[in-house]
Amino acid sequence: MTTMAAEPYWQNIFQRLLGEMDRRTSPDWQADEASLDPAIYIDRNRFEQEQARLFRRLPLCLGPADQLREPGSVMAREICGVPLLVTRTREGAIKVLLNVCRHRGARLVVEEGEPCRRQSLVCPYHGWAYRLDGTLAGVPRAEAFPTLDKHLTGLRELPSVVRHGMIWAMLDPAASLPDMASFLNGVDDDLDAAALGSHCFYRQSTSRRATNWKLIVEAFLEIYHVTRLHAGTIGPFFTDSVSVSDPLGPHIRFLAARDRTKEIRDLPPERWTLSEHGTLVHYVFPNTIVIHHPDYVSHLGLFPIAPDETLFVHSMLTPHLPGDDKADAHWARSFDLIDRGVFNSEDLPICEQIQRGLASGANDRLIVGRLEQNLKRFHTSLDRALN
Ligand code: FES
Ligand SMILES: [Fe+2]
Repeated sequence: MTTMAAEPYWQNIFQRLLGEMDRRTSPDWQADEASLDPAIYIDRNRFEQEQARLFRRLPLCLGPADQLREPGSVMAREICGVPLLVTRTREGAIKVLLNVCRHRGARLVVEEGEPCRRQSLVCPYHGWAYRLDGTLAGVPRAEAFPTLDKHLTGLRELPSVVRHGMIWAMLDPAASLPDMASFLNGVDDDLDAAALGSHCFYRQSTSRRATNWKLIVEAFLEIYHVTRLHAGTIGPFFTDSVSVSDPLGPHIRFLAARDRTKEIRDLPPERWTLSEHGTLVHYVFPNTIVIHHPDYVSHLGLFPIAPDETLFVHSMLTPHLPGDDKADAHWARSFDLIDRGVFNSEDLPICEQIQRGLASGANDRLIVGRLEQNLKRFHTSLDRALN
């Protein structure tokens, strides 16, 4: 993230962060411990309820539109059991289509992963061809389909929109997108202030991890573990267990104190910056996390596959494209540290261990303390949306 002038909103949240450092003044310190039922991470019925009531009903963030920078870019990805194609048409529009041929249902693009460039989408089974906007362009031996209306037989499109440079879509083609500014609540202004929409896609990693998606969300909602689990990587950049949080509807804004937060005491408020003096995290309900690192942004998308399996997609966004090899090497190192060194070697293995531990039946409850109040907020929002 680029350095931002501290506007009243940042000043206020930093004031509270200082209060938290000195005196533990946040309301979280009045809260009692809570407990979570291990069944919510392993139960099949619960998983299916979440699929039906959250993942099929809410706009999901599929990642940066800039990942499909060039017209003609196509990316196939299965999201929560739904095979998707995300395309950038020749006219520059982003489309989210079902990766399912309208003839007899074959998958048009089989390889998932890096976006590829295509002139058109040709089904491997019988060769029906579609344009990148999903319309049907050609049918081999068309005389065999005397009543087929080509105009009505395009790929099914999912409702989608690009906001803050991110692609948001509904997985149900019959659903309609809510007004995104109201859906995003206070996060909308924050992402605007962070200029997320003008960031550039730099790199992405995807992996299937043997853990419930909620355990991964929880790893990004508390500061308690950061100086401990991450002692050998990013831990030393943080102050132990100091953060402030704001629920924004079902979403959460979370500011963690860094080692340099204390310096703001000697600086005028207009010199307090998110890049040097704190790390801001936005959790967007239900499965998106945006972390504003000192000079880049991590976007995490967590897509459930099974109660104990999640597709983890981490995209790194930078304020601009690397201007030269030195800048590129700098950001490549940052990506390697955070993606491989921290997320994939520290946070996610712990989530996988917890998943196996829960299945063992050792704990009849998980204990949540005053430093983990965001977990309580997260589960309250989940319960509300599920019931
Ligand atoms: S299933 Fe696609 S062309 Fe037949
Ligand atoms: Fe972590």
